[in-house]
Amino acid sequence: MITLTVNGVLHSLDVDPETPLLWVLNEHLNLTGTKYGCGTGECGACTVIIDGNAELSCSITAEEAQHSEITTIEGLKGETADALGRAWVEEDVSQCGYCQPGQIMTAAVLLTHNPEPDDGTIDAQMSGVLCRCGTYQNIRKAIHLASRELCHGKK
Ligand code: FES
Ligand code: FES
Repeated sequence: MITLTVNGVLHSLDVDPETPLLWVLNEHLNLTGTKYGCGTGECGACTVIIDGNAELSCSITAEEAQHSEITTIEGLKGETADALGRAWVEEDVSQCGYCQPGQIMTAAVLLTHNPEPDDGTIDAQMSGVLCRCGTYQNIRKAIHLASRELCHGKK
């Protein structure tokens, strides 16, 4: 048995310990907001937060994820998440939407560690999450908008 804490809930699961965390989230816990893009650590669509860091859930086994706090897009809460949600809508970021959970999870970690990132920091942090729809410019604007709200109360 594998034991995982996901979005604050402890789950005991009868899965092969070598199963990628992404598969466990999607297929065993029905948390389908975390997306499969490449399965090989190249696209960032599967990004979740593990112990405060943005991690690729396709590249971590269920066994490796034990004893950690795992947050998926379904469980992302708090003022940073709220500010990002508002900013994403304001800047009309999402196009097809497929990459967006990975983008938002990565942005949430960025703003948690660096509340006022400059363009270079945003681009560096976000570069691991690919977007076929080319929403990068709007993602950058939305992160700045969320940052301003969080740091200065401006929307
Ligand atoms: Fe994990 Fe692409 S699905 S990096
Ligand atoms: Fe379509 Fe990013 S919004 S892949």
